Parts: sequence; C-alpha cells; structure tokens
Amino acid sequence: MIVSYLGTKGGTGTTTLAVNGAADIRRLTHKPTVIVDLKAGPGDVSLFLGLRPRHSVLHAIDHLSWMDPGAVSKYVVHHQCGLHVLACADEFGRPASRDVEGIEQMLRCLNSLYDFVIVDVGSTLSTCGAMALQLSDTVMLVANPDVPCLRNLQRLIDAVKLTGVGAERLKIVLNRASEFGVLSTAQIERVLGLGIDYSVNSDYRTVASAVNSGVPVSTLRASAELHHQLEVIARALCGVPAGRARPAGGDRSDDEESGLARHQL
Ligand SMILES: Nc1ncnc2c1ncn2[C@@H]1O[C@H](COP(=O)(O)OP(=O)(O)O)[C@@H](O)[C@H]1O
Ligand SMILES: [Mg+2]
Repeated sequence: MIVSYLGTKGGTGTTTLAVNGAADIRRLTHKPTVIVDLKAGPGDVSLFLGLRPRHSVLHAIDHLSWMDPGAVSKYVVHHQCGLHVLACADEFGRPASRDVEGIEQMLRCLNSLYDFVIVDVGSTLSTCGAMALQLSDTVMLVANPDVPCLRNLQRLIDAVKLTGVGAERLKIVLNRASEFGVLSTAQIERVLGLGIDYSVNSDYRTVASAVNSGVPVSTLRASAELHHQLEVIARALCGVPAGRARPAGGDRSDDEESGLARHQL
C-alpha cells in the first residue's frame, strides 16, 4: 500500500509524521517498508534518520527506464530500525514536471517490492506530488491548529480532490494540537465542516531529540503520550490492532514474501 503525507504549509510536521509513521509501521508489522522523499531540493527524511545516502530518487528515475525495475531497491539506504529510505537529491528543482512518468514508474516498482511505501510529498502540490497522491491508498493531510493552516486546508482538500483522490482516501492529521490552545479540535471541526481523523500533541523536546539522534520517536524513552498518538495512526494505516505487534521472524521472512530477497536488499 502507498501512503502519502502532504502538508498544508511548510513546517507543519509533514516529514516528522511521515518518518515516524513509516518507522512505526515497520516496527509493528516487521514487513518491508520504504519511505520516499519526493521533495525537490535538499530533503529532510534521511537527515531525520541520521543517514547519508549516496543515491536518490533522481538516480532511481533516471536509471529506471533501462534497468530491471526490481533494481530500484539498489538506491535505498537502510536505517537500523529496519526502515528503508529513498532519499531526495541535493539539487534544487527536481523532480520536476518532466519527471512525472519516472516517479509513477518508481512508485509502482516500490509498491510491488514493499508492503508499505510511505511518501513525504512536502507541502507543494507539484505534478509529481499529485501523481503520488493519485497512486496512494491513503493521503494524510497534515495541518496545525492555526488560521493560515486551516484556510489552506480547505483549499488543499479541494485541490487534492481535483487530482482524482476521493474523500474516502483523505485523512486529516492535526499536528501540534495542544500547542496553541486557542482553537480546540471541536471548533476546528465546526469551522471546517469536517472531522479531524488524528491529533498529535506538541512535544518539541521529544521530536527534536529524535531528530538529533537520527532515530524515530518510538525508540526514545520520552513522552509516552506522543509515542501513543503516533502509534495510533500507524496501527490504523497498517491494520494492526492495539496491543498487538506482529512477532519478528516466522516461517518465511517478510523479505522473501515480498520478493525483496530476490533483489538482495
Ligand atoms: N508534534 C510536534 N511537536 C513539536 N514540534 C514538532 C512536532 N512535529 C514537528 N515538529 C517540529 O516542527 C518543525 C517542522 O517539522 P517538519 O517535520 O520538518 O515539518 P514539514 O516537513 O511540514 O516542513 C521541526 O522543527 C520539528 O521538530
Ligand atoms: Mg518536510
């Protein structure tokens, strides 16, 4: 399945939620999971996980036209938590509109190799971003409880629907919900005429310390509340009920099941 995260503006926590969502899904399911950074320009996904990738989305799409599609996995880097990362390039301006076919091909390849493909689309609805949304089973719209975000959210929902994503695939995440205190979730829902699907509290100390250590929040002993809220989202996405995590190991490895072993990941 493909899950895309799209921010209603920069700085809402899109990368934070995408990275932790992906890491929690991997932790709960032990299934092959990859996160793709679709940002044009230096992205944050690999930075948040303390990785220094040699390859990027651009290498993958530039080579995909002539190579074995399964070889896309050569371009991912592995985090110690088991999550795989396809980083964005360091150059500004790409992926651009002309890359949309490559992005589609790459996401379809990854979707056939991995059980879960998480995409950090960023906060711009680019042509490539719109392609990712169209291919997604779920689109997570990340907002903060402030007026500019909520105004953008209304507009973004309309724009996302115009790309062909039905309301049933859209989920709204209110990040830093506890911080501003002015607008309550109930007030926001009334103004928007929509339900908030998930709320995540503000906890800068924990989020910053995870980024500084290059690990997901779940590996820290800090803030049970934040950990719990992030896990609720991941459980809903991967369908693992509360209180249950899939045990590691088993008759067949997940990499074997997904065909990843064939590609020597
Ligand atoms: N729930 C949260 N509580 C406190 N700070 C947060 C939270 N989520 C994100 N942040 C912080 O907000 C800033 C922007 O987050 P980031 O994930 O990079 O946003 P985006 O990808 O939308 O630009 C970062 O400094 C991050 O640590
Ligand atoms: Mg980001």
